[in-house]
Amino acid sequence: MRQISSFAKYHEEYKTSIEQPEAFWAEVAEYFAWGKKWDKVLEWNFTDANVKWYSGGTTNMSENCLDRHLEKHANKVALIWEPNDPKEASKSLTYRQLHTEVCKFANVLLGLGIKQGDRVCIYLPMIPEAAVAMLACTRIGAIHSVVFAGFSSTSISDRINDSQCSLLITADAVYRGDKKIDLKKIVDDALLLTPSIQKCIVFNHRNSAIDMKPGRDIWWSDLMANANPIHQVARFEAETPLFILYTSGSTGKPKGVLHTTAGYMVYAGYTFKNVFNYQMGEVFFCTADVGWVTGHTYLVYGPLLNGATSVMFEGTPSYPDHGRFWDVVDKHKVNIFYTAPTAIRSLQSQGEEIFKTKDLSTLRVLGSVGEPINEEAWHWYDKNVGKENCPIVDTWWQTETGGILISPIAGVTPLKPSFATLPLPGIQTVLMDEKGNEIAGNGTEGNLCIKFPWPGMARSVYGDHERFRQTYFSTYLGYYFTGDGCKRDEDGYYRITGRVDDVLNVSGHRIGTGEVEDAINQHDYIIESAVVGYPHDIKGQGIYAFVTLAGHASGDEHVRDVIRKTVTEKIGPFARPDKIQIVKHLPKTRSGKIMRRILRKIAEGATDNLGDTTTLLDPTVVDAIKAGAL
Ligand code: PRX
Repeated sequence: MRQISSFAKYHEEYKTSIEQPEAFWAEVAEYFAWGKKWDKVLEWNFTDANVKWYSGGTTNMSENCLDRHLEKHANKVALIWEPNDPKEASKSLTYRQLHTEVCKFANVLLGLGIKQGDRVCIYLPMIPEAAVAMLACTRIGAIHSVVFAGFSSTSISDRINDSQCSLLITADAVYRGDKKIDLKKIVDDALLLTPSIQKCIVFNHRNSAIDMKPGRDIWWSDLMANANPIHQVARFEAETPLFILYTSGSTGKPKGVLHTTAGYMVYAGYTFKNVFNYQMGEVFFCTADVGWVTGHTYLVYGPLLNGATSVMFEGTPSYPDHGRFWDVVDKHKVNIFYTAPTAIRSLQSQGEEIFKTKDLSTLRVLGSVGEPINEEAWHWYDKNVGKENCPIVDTWWQTETGGILISPIAGVTPLKPSFATLPLPGIQTVLMDEKGNEIAGNGTEGNLCIKFPWPGMARSVYGDHERFRQTYFSTYLGYYFTGDGCKRDEDGYYRITGRVDDVLNVSGHRIGTGEVEDAINQHDYIIESAVVGYPHDIKGQGIYAFVTLAGHASGDEHVRDVIRKTVTEKIGPFARPDKIQIVKHLPKTRSGKIMRRILRKIAEGATDNLGDTTTLLDPTVVDAIKAGAL
C-alpha cells in the first residue's frame, strides 16, 4: 500500500492526486485483490449525482479482508474482543479463525436462501459475531444494514421496512456497564411491523430467557454447528452495493446511505494505512460501535484490509471505573487508539489520578473523530494519554464520505490543536460563500464542499436517488455539500466549526432535530415542539426541546417524563432531550414558521441580542420563553 513518509511527500502526493486523479487512484487500487482489473477508473457527474469507480473491475471485500492474508498471516490476530465485564475472559481470533467463521456463516446465509443484493439487517452488540455477519454478507454480495444496538424497536422496523430486509441477525441480550439490554425483546416488538423479514438469527450471548418464534427464529449456534467451513468467494462488479447505513439529516426520516464495493474498499484501506500510519504488527483500538460508520470503516474493514489487529471493546469507558479504556490499552498493548471527544471530555472530568497505575507506553498514535475536539480536551488527551509523545489525528469525515477526508497524517503533518488540518490526497475541499461561490485564499470561513469525487463516497440513498441528489448536490450545483461550516486559517489548515443545518451532534451521535420533534409530537399531550441544540460540556451538544401542550396534559414533571419516554421508545435513549421547556406559544413568523434561530439563542443562554424579531407574529412570546428558560 502507498504510504506517505514525510510532509514533503504529502504535498507531492496531494499534487499528483489532483493533477492525475485516475492514475493516482489506479495505483492505490493495485494493492488489492481483483478478479478482473477495471476498464475505467472514474466516471462522474455531480449534477445527477452519479459516480462510478473502477468500472468493469470485479472484487470481493471479504476476500480482501481475509483470504488474501492467509498465505502470510494466517496465525496473526485479526480481532481481539474485550468483554464488558473485565472479570470475563477476552477472546482473540486469528485471520484463519475469522476466515473460517465467516466462510461458515456465508454458507449459513446461502442455506437460508440469501443471495446477492438481498438486504440483511444486523442488530448486534459489540461482539465478534457482528464482524462475522458483516464479512459473510459482503462475501456473498448481500447488502448489510447494521442498526446500532441502542436504537428502539420503532427505529429498527422503520429501517428494515425502508430497505425491505429479509433477514435479521441479533442476540438475546447484552450488558453495557451494569445495565442489561434485552435486544431480542426489542427485536420482537420491531418484527411485529416488518412483513419482509422471513428469518431471525439469534446469537446466544448472555443466556437470557427469550421467546423464539417457531419457523422464524433460529439459533446462531444451531446453524453454525454443521456449517461447511469452505466457501469459495465470487467476485462482484465494482459498483455492487456493499452496505446501507442509516443516518440523520435535517429533514425527513433517516436516509439509507448506500456504499458500493470497490471504491469503499480502496478508500477504507488507503485511509486506514495512511492516516494512522499503521505499521504491520501494531494493535489498533477504535472505540466506536460497529453500528456507526466509524465502526464499519475503522474497526472492521480498514484494519482487516491491512492485515491489522483490531480491538473490539464491548463495554463503556466508565465501567467498572473511569480507567477502563486505559486498562484495555494496557492489557492488549494497544499502539493506536481512536475515540470521540465526548469520551475524552467525560474522562477528563474524572481527574488524572487514575493514570498512575496504567501502562500506556505502547501507544504511538491517538485519534479523534465524530465532532470538533475543543482545545482543552485536546491538551488533556495529549498530556495524559499520549504523554506528549503521540501525534493526535483529528479526523473529519461523515457516514456519506465512507472514510476520513480531512486529517493530519500521523507523524507527518504538523499538528494544531482542534484543527483537522489538511485534506487527504484526492480530496478537493472548497469553502463556499452564501452566494454559492468558492472562497479563494486563506484566513476565511464558509460552508465545506468537495468538488471532485473520491472512491469512498456514498453512491445513493437506498431506493431514493433523487433524495441523494437533492440532499448533497443541489445546494451548490456541481459540488458535494457536507452540511458543515468550516474555517481555513492562514496556513490553509481546516477547522470544522459544526453543522450548519438542523442536525445535532450529541456525544458523537448524529440526530436530526426534526426526528426528535416527530417523536415528541406523537404523544397526544403535545401540540407542537421545536428542538434545538445547545453547548454541553461533555456531550458537545445537548438537546433542548420547547413544547406546547394539549389541554389534558398536566403536571410539568410528568409531562417531561412522558416526553423522555416517548423519545426513548421512538428513537432510542441517546436522543432523549436534556432540557424540556413547556411554553404557551412557540415564536412564529406571520407565515407560521417556527423561528428556530431565536430558540437556539435562548437555549444557548442568551438574554438579549436575539437578532431580528420584527417578523414575529407576536414578539411578546419571546419574552415569556426567555423568562422560563432552563
Ligand atoms: O459535523 C461533522 C461531525 O460529524 C458529522 C458526521 O457525522 P456521522 O455521519 O455520524 O459520522 C461521524 C463519524 C465520522 C460531520 O458532518 N464530525 C465528524 N468528525 C469530526 C466532526 N466535526 C469536527 N471534527 C471532526 N473530526
